[in-house]
Amino acid sequence: METSYLTRRQLLVSAAAVGTACVAGPRAAAQQRAPAAAAGTLRIGGDLVVNRMGFGAMRITGPGIWGEPKDAAEARRVLRRAVELGVNFIDTADAYGPEVSERLIKEALHPYPPGLVIATKGGLLRPGPDQWTRDGRPAHLREACEASLQRLKLERIDLYQLHRIDPQVPAADSLGELARLQREGKIRHIGVSQVSVDELAAARRIVPIVSVQNRYNVVDRSSADVLAVCERERMAFIPWAPIASGSAEKLESGASSAALDAVAQAHGVSMWQAALAWLLAKSPSMLPIPGTSSMAHLEEDIAAARVRLTAAQLATLA
Ligand SMILES: NC(=O)c1ccc[n+]([C@@H]2O[C@H](COP(=O)([O-])OP(=O)(O)OC[C@H]3O[C@@H](n4cnc5c(N)ncnc54)[C@H](OP(=O)(O)O)[C@@H]3O)[C@@H](O)[C@H]2O)c1
Repeated sequence: METSYLTRRQLLVSAAAVGTACVAGPRAAAQQRAPAAAAGTLRIGGDLVVNRMGFGAMRITGPGIWGEPKDAAEARRVLRRAVELGVNFIDTADAYGPEVSERLIKEALHPYPPGLVIATKGGLLRPGPDQWTRDGRPAHLREACEASLQRLKLERIDLYQLHRIDPQVPAADSLGELARLQREGKIRHIGVSQVSVDELAAARRIVPIVSVQNRYNVVDRSSADVLAVCERERMAFIPWAPIASGSAEKLESGASSAALDAVAQAHGVSMWQAALAWLLAKSPSMLPIPGTSSMAHLEEDIAAARVRLTAAQLATLA
């Protein structure tokens, strides 16, 4: 990288990423100093304590979240680097690839370091690239969960999320099957994904729900009502597409793009880092899971854990 081609902002961002990579010393101390730990921690389901900056493992597959990635060795390096940077919450799903993301996680990280939480999901089928269809039948969910256990080489999945509620199947049947898998010891905690406030309330009448994973970011706050329920009821809120799927265009066209740019400039960070810092500041229930296949982007995203927005900056982004 030639310095002469970097803008001041890019230099500050690279410096932050490099600075956060210099972690050394005994394991425990290193974990506390790890970049992802700067975001603070969150307790999921009362017993799983994780750093509030996670990693989404959907982007380590092929185009259209289909098939093998271009460079599987690099994908494994990204996963290992995420853990080195202090990430101890990795989100995946059987549908990513399908199977590819879970398999790469096992290849890169098994035997898993203590405290690493792998959250996976079931309930979506993949007929082809960029195609997602729902299947919430109990038999399918059981088969999917057992296959994930095998692929991830786990005896129990810490957090199993129903990827989507299937309108063809009563939620009580889908979630009832997850509750059975939980009683059998195959699942520790159950979460849901892309639900409304009413769907979440109905799900919680069927089985204890510890987390919700909905699309949420600085330019799409349509799940603000669900976030409020998570805060009140002490469930983790895991925003997917936390940096608007990496789209500079979306971030720059949002109503608060000028305020986001001002926050980024004030902290000497990128827009994507500012968007992640906004999520962290927005709520203590928030557990962002930025996804990337790139080592440089990984370092940049995780380095956002140390960026603290002031109350005034938060207000400009309200
Ligand atoms: N529950 C659900 O229905 C659902 C749906 C979608 C996703 N998810 C989960 O949420 C995670 C995150 O969502 P997402 O991957 O869709 O969106 P995202 O994290 O907002 O954005 C990921 C995209 O941004 C790019 N990117 C990452 N860091 C960047 C940086 N610093 N600068 C520029 N570009 C950057 C990545 O490309 P590069 O690879 O080139 O870095 C990737 O294409 C997924 O990995 C998955 O675990 C869940």
